[in-house]
Amino acid sequence: MTDRIIIFDTTLRDGEQSPGASMTKDEKLRIARQLERLRVDVIEAGFAASSDGDFEAVKAIAAAIKDSAVCSLARANVRDIERSAQALEGAARARIHTFIATSALHMEQKLRMTPEQVLEQAKQSVRFARDKIADVEFSPEDGYRSDPDFLCRVLEAVIDEGASTINIPDTVGYAVPALFGEFIRDLRQRIPNADKAMWSVHCHNDLGMAVANSLAGVMVGGARQIECTINGLGERAGNCSLEEVVMALKTRKDYFNLAVGIDTTQIVPASRLVAQTTGFVVQPNKAVVGANAFAHASGIHQDGVLKARGTYEIMRAEDVGWPTNKMVLGKLSGRNAFKQRLRDLGVALATEAEVNAAFSKFKELADRKSDIFDEDIIALVMDESLASEHEHYRLLALSQHSETGKRPHANVVFAAGETEWRTESDGNGPVDASVKAIESKLQTGAEMLLYSVNAITSGSTESQGEVTVRLQHGGRVVNGVGADPDIVVASAKAYLSALNKLRTNAERVAAQG
Ligand code: KIV
Ligand code: ZN
Repeated sequence: MTDRIIIFDTTLRDGEQSPGASMTKDEKLRIARQLERLRVDVIEAGFAASSDGDFEAVKAIAAAIKDSAVCSLARANVRDIERSAQALEGAARARIHTFIATSALHMEQKLRMTPEQVLEQAKQSVRFARDKIADVEFSPEDGYRSDPDFLCRVLEAVIDEGASTINIPDTVGYAVPALFGEFIRDLRQRIPNADKAMWSVHCHNDLGMAVANSLAGVMVGGARQIECTINGLGERAGNCSLEEVVMALKTRKDYFNLAVGIDTTQIVPASRLVAQTTGFVVQPNKAVVGANAFAHASGIHQDGVLKARGTYEIMRAEDVGWPTNKMVLGKLSGRNAFKQRLRDLGVALATEAEVNAAFSKFKELADRKSDIFDEDIIALVMDESLASEHEHYRLLALSQHSETGKRPHANVVFAAGETEWRTESDGNGPVDASVKAIESKLQTGAEMLLYSVNAITSGSTESQGEVTVRLQHGGRVVNGVGADPDIVVASAKAYLSALNKLRTNAERVAAQG
């Protein structure tokens, strides 16, 4: 019989821990809905005790999602577990994921606890969590660098307390595949009650081996849950990438002989949504979801693919959700065609008012740009979702003048709550002038860490520009994203969107702090 792999997505928790990837409640909810369409088994929606914002996000996701289990991370203490249980109250299927570090380095230097104290706290926390919710996952943080004898004692004890999933993190991405697989296998062999729990792997990508390590954990170690993120998002070099690990299991089923419940046609829409929301652009040569993943540039390859696709393709682009007909809509397209396209793209707008607002934006865009591609529609809907959050700062109008040999000048009109501001400035270029104009009024003092422009669709100067701005202020890092055929306008939108995030996001507690 073919075993099934549980796909546990932690884009909204570990992914969000990337500096600058923090998301608003509405953004998280939108991604959670896409993860449900992707049919992931478990959505780690956040770390409820880390901030009021994350608590609300986990709560909203728990209320909205029906087909995937919804999970909240909790440190191994009463308050975190209680907050998680409260946030998960409305969930159709809820899971608490509690963790404590077990490596000597973390216990001594970070927790300043003895191994016996850690063991006791792990047991008590799992017991407490089990009183609240039936489905409890336990992770020994920095598990791979922990002493195996001590780890066996902790894991046996927490299984006895009722942990139904045991997740082994390679927190710092130190493992190599063969050793990681053997590590999991040895734990499972040595722990007498190991068969009472589902075994899981959680690999970070510091040495670029997160996917390989996860697969070794499955094949050699016998794990049956993989923790991963869309686009491999996550702290430092990120986590195991969902799209890569799932497509490896599917494409090499002859070798792995394992089933996954993922609807792979939702992979590319999920990847785009996460990239557009966080501003973490996907590199063109990224496996499965990179713009070049299915592009055949060399003449020999093109010739081969035209004669027989299998010559250079091991997966079909349409099976992972790359749109087959690239050009979709234009100026003459009606509301029904627009709604149908949204459905095809897996975009669910909650109300008719949202559809109407998106449709009128679509019409505005179609007046300025002859061909509207899928990517344009996603950007437009993202923009609409931002606007519908009643953002404090909103761009109302922008004009700029630049001329060879003259210093560019920008006039910007933007709303700050109910107030309308008119402002102007010079700058090195029109983008700089626009940002300086906004700053001259608001004087936020935020430091810009990143400014990037990407063409939403390739191959034409008609493309919309998508701008990402990363700002740092008061120890916090946020990303703002804006899209428009005019990149100066897109830049001003992105800047204001980042300022909105700086304004609203409450302080968070770091999961691995
Ligand atoms: O990497 C890690 O150790 C984690 C744990 C909290 C599971 O993310
Ligand atoms: Zn992690």
